[in-house]
Amino acid sequence: MSSAPKRIAVIPGDGIGPEVTAEALKALRAAFAAGNRRAEFTEFDWGADRYLHDGTSFPAGALEMLRSQFDAILFGAVGDPRIPSNQHALDILFGMRFGLDLYVNIRPCVLFDRRFTPLRDRSEADVNFVVLRENTEGLYANIGGQFKRNTPDEVALQEEVNTRKGVERILRYAFEDARSRPRKRLCMSDKSNALTHGHDLWQRVFHELRQAYSDVDSRHLYIDTLVMEMVRDPSQFDVIVTNNLFGDIVSDLGAQLAGGLGLSPSANIHPGQVSMFEPVHGSAPNIAGKNLANPFGAILTSAMLCDFIGWPQQGDALRNAVRAALREGKCTADLGGKLGTREAGDHIASLLSSRP
Ligand code: NAD
Ligand code: IPM
Ligand code: MN
Repeated sequence: MSSAPKRIAVIPGDGIGPEVTAEALKALRAAFAAGNRRAEFTEFDWGADRYLHDGTSFPAGALEMLRSQFDAILFGAVGDPRIPSNQHALDILFGMRFGLDLYVNIRPCVLFDRRFTPLRDRSEADVNFVVLRENTEGLYANIGGQFKRNTPDEVALQEEVNTRKGVERILRYAFEDARSRPRKRLCMSDKSNALTHGHDLWQRVFHELRQAYSDVDSRHLYIDTLVMEMVRDPSQFDVIVTNNLFGDIVSDLGAQLAGGLGLSPSANIHPGQVSMFEPVHGSAPNIAGKNLANPFGAILTSAMLCDFIGWPQQGDALRNAVRAALREGKCTADLGGKLGTREAGDHIASLLSSRP
């Protein structure tokens, strides 16, 4: 049975972004070919080079185009030392996260092989949780300003925005997600003992929703305790939900517990609408252009994209291929392997093509 091809926008970005995205595309193409799925990929050159060339970061009309012409967006990474303000990166990344209202940032932290966790005596079953990061407000709302800049009296303000709508929809998503998982556990984290206005809102909405989700084993930890507990005993976590900034930080910690940034995928979603998929890592200028970057985070990200567009078999095929490659040690140097970025991607593609 043939159906319309899925339309996927591809934004490789800067640094290692294009290197890992090329391997994710290689893997996706192999998975789709093996599963008789049809997709069309359209690449966009948004990133540092384009910005330095003609001043374009996130073009006018881009949001409408993404919304109307695509089923999903595969993103690499942005950030370039030639642009210290990071302006182009913020325009592109936040342009999509905020502009498409992608309010859930899903960052799974799953240990594929015990050799990769820095924690002593921990195994696969101990590190298997997901961080759900609020992705459209908080301290990222870019509300604030500077006064008397570059004088001894200067003032810098950066406001944290917490709306009932924003808090409620991410917490509701988290309760639903926890409900769908075997362990049905949820941990909400904030700093309400100190931030008595904004995080009090998180507390109140959390306690309201708990009544409706009494089948979910839910609890609260302050963010400082959460990071300590994640290291002390990660096996207690199933779904973690928190605000935008804490989610950014906690997801890098979770990534490292599961083998490092090179392996860590993420999805920025608004259920039912066009959504964006990107590895958790950045553009890694220190290793860019050297065929050193681990492409598995980007490949696992493309597996999340497959799940989202309704092709979970291809998502599973991609995850299984990465798992098999890790087992055989067919990976990049950050995980103790000897393969380059391209060779690791080739290996995944060959595993997918040889599937019966
Ligand atoms: P980074 O994630 O780029 O790199 C952190 C460290 O992890 C570096 O040592 C890097 O070499 C290593 N690393 C990252 N990805 C790897 C991979 N796939 N394989 C092997 N090693 C990998 O974070 P940073 O150095 O703090 O930031 C660099 C730039 O990336 C900055 O401009 C930052 O703003 C940007 N950034 C962008 C995104 C994004 O586009 N979503 C995310 C994070 C950082
Ligand atoms: C991430 C990154 C971004 C963020 C940066 C590049 C603005 O760290 O996606 O985790 O803070 O959201
Ligand atoms: Mn981050």
